[in-house]
Amino acid sequence: MHVRVVENYTCLGEKAAEIVAAALRANPRLTLGLPTGGTPEGMYEALARRFQAGECDFSQLTAFNLDEYVGLESAHPQSYSFYMEKHFYSRVNVDRQKVFLPSWSGGDCVAFCRSYDALIASKGGIDLQILGIGINGHIGFNEPGPILHRDTHLIDLAPETLKANSRFFPPGAEVPRQAITMGMGTIMGAKEILLLASGSAKSRALAEALDGFIRTTLPASILQLHPSCTVLADKEAGVLLKGGFVP
Ligand code: PGA
Repeated sequence: MHVRVVENYTCLGEKAAEIVAAALRANPRLTLGLPTGGTPEGMYEALARRFQAGECDFSQLTAFNLDEYVGLESAHPQSYSFYMEKHFYSRVNVDRQKVFLPSWSGGDCVAFCRSYDALIASKGGIDLQILGIGINGHIGFNEPGPILHRDTHLIDLAPETLKANSRFFPPGAEVPRQAITMGMGTIMGAKEILLLASGSAKSRALAEALDGFIRTTLPASILQLHPSCTVLADKEAGVLLKGGFVP
């Protein structure tokens, strides 16, 4: 596991974009796993700038999102489909036929989740999975608890996740209580993983995720078992780490 601490949020986005751009140059037909939330916005912004500067070509990219709320239409401004369009897909040259989110709109949920994992497998698996981390140590929406799920599944969001995510919704609006998320096996099956963390609120979860213990009560701790995982944190998130400082 490689740990890099950068100066601030802007550097985090730039560095993450640099890693994605390099992977894309090495393999234009890359399959990415993508997160949403506040943390990766800077990375998407930096990737869009690189595209506008003619430095990146996303036309052959395949991408799978980690998760999506249950009960929000794709056009809902707080859905992750909308987020991906707004922050990334509308700003670059992705092929919409090659980008996927686990947007379940009813019917057999288990079959839907199986088909998402099967689709990922049919593309040869994920080459580079980008992750954020929740303040409770979740990755995707794999919430802390006595067990973790291997496969894509329906999950009840933890109270602290509902609270954290309420900042993206208008005051008083109901935050969806359930989501479909890739499972831990889906995530750990990626050939490479890049975990992004920003802000002091993440510092404890990040330090505990890297402390040598694996706990279902801190899902990100399983990343310690991945053969090719890089952690990129800004100074505030990395304050409790003993990793090197990269300006
Ligand atoms: P955030 O969410 O980037 O909005 O902090 C990260 C996460 O919950 O995985």
